[in-house]
Amino acid sequence: MAGSGEKDDAQAGANALWGGRFEGGPAAVMAEINASIPFDKRLWRQDIRGSLAHVQMLGARGIIDQTAAGRIAEGLRQIEGDYDANGVPVDIALEDIHMTVETALAGRLGPDAGRLHTARSRNDQVATDVRLWVRDAIDGHLAAIRALAGVLARRAEEHHATVMPGFTHLQVAQPVTLGHHLMAYVEMLKRDFGRFRDARARLNQCPLGSAALAGTGFPVDRAATAQALGFDGPTDNSLDSVSDRDFAIEYLTSATQCALHLSRLAEEVILWASQPFGWVKLPDQWSTGSSIMPQKRNPDAAELVRGHSGRILGLMTGLMVTMKGLPLAYSKDMQDDKEPVFEAHDLLELSLAAMAGMMETLGFVPGRMRASAASGYSTATDLADWLVREASVPFREAHHITGRAVKAAEDAGTGLDALPLETLQAIDPRIDARVHSVLSVEASVSSRTSHGGTAPANVLAAARKALAEIPQW
Ligand code: ARG
Repeated sequence: MAGSGEKDDAQAGANALWGGRFEGGPAAVMAEINASIPFDKRLWRQDIRGSLAHVQMLGARGIIDQTAAGRIAEGLRQIEGDYDANGVPVDIALEDIHMTVETALAGRLGPDAGRLHTARSRNDQVATDVRLWVRDAIDGHLAAIRALAGVLARRAEEHHATVMPGFTHLQVAQPVTLGHHLMAYVEMLKRDFGRFRDARARLNQCPLGSAALAGTGFPVDRAATAQALGFDGPTDNSLDSVSDRDFAIEYLTSATQCALHLSRLAEEVILWASQPFGWVKLPDQWSTGSSIMPQKRNPDAAELVRGHSGRILGLMTGLMVTMKGLPLAYSKDMQDDKEPVFEAHDLLELSLAAMAGMMETLGFVPGRMRASAASGYSTATDLADWLVREASVPFREAHHITGRAVKAAEDAGTGLDALPLETLQAIDPRIDARVHSVLSVEASVSSRTSHGGTAPANVLAAARKALAEIPQW
């Protein structure tokens, strides 16, 4: 913050790591706008990992001597232990995590610490750190997506035959099963999983050794550092290596798509929990009360998941706009890649966990769902299909006849299945008593056995298949 005690430190003198040609330190506000340590301290594990791989390579290649390399590696491990125990110290005069670690190393080793930065730059260093961080973030999301998909598939198995209305235009359209509805979200999550996995595969190239922008004259072994850090290999163009943030954008687009799916599910939970629906009861652990209305049980977690999706989308847009006009290679604008990635990660991780917990314990109310499913003449298509199947009526004509049956039911104030046979036969004499067997909501869903259809047998099979496959995603 401007005006904080760090101001004096920042002004005290030229930067110890790059200040050779400077006579004075930066203005307090300059130090503040320049510093990323308040947020990029989250990269400390990745930064130390990257430095360890780098220094081992420098030693192995004889670029620095083995003794110095060994001391540096030992010092880095001590710093790792220290940060693990005590956290990362934030001093904005040290700008960022890279200089914070290097300064800590210098404090332990003296001038030998300065050999670590041979044949690298903060530009390839930060590109490597952020890739490593995003890769870890993706691994966390992959596990969380699996967990949520597992919860949904289990609830779908449990409710493979529970009837609810299916909607189009939010108007009751045809009966479906609750299990089928839940499995639709499993499909979405499977695609989300695939997107993150694809993004992970594409990002898994190591920029370390690209140095500032042009590569380095030292005989570095980029394949070795790439391998030590679990990358598939080194990146192939040094300019691209230090200026590429596609991987961060791709992470954010994948996160956004996943968050949009969670938001749709959250919206349904919110709707279903409202009194006019009354299809679900929120468990105590996943609802909140009102400070004024004692009867309230609010779906705050679902609302926040819905809200967070908008923020994640905004973060994605923000980084895209940051990147869109940048000439090659590195510009400091790119320091702004971290906060959107970190924030989106935290929001998505919380959202996935909240949805898993909520969906696991949500109390469905099958009686209310079935009553809604039977409203709105939801089996009208079944009557039309029956006319096509049993009386060879062309579908268009069957549609028309059914429309008249719906009108008759409306006039009589009953459902289609309660219309007397005489009424139906007066509309079309080809209708006979067998028609009643297709007009119930249960008969309707059971008949939908086409691949991907809502029939309970299909849903049970789909849920069990998913439960078997999700661990292998
Ligand atoms: N903190 C910087 C960032 O996050 C590290 C790279 C600094 N590079 C430079 N040329 N000043 O982007």
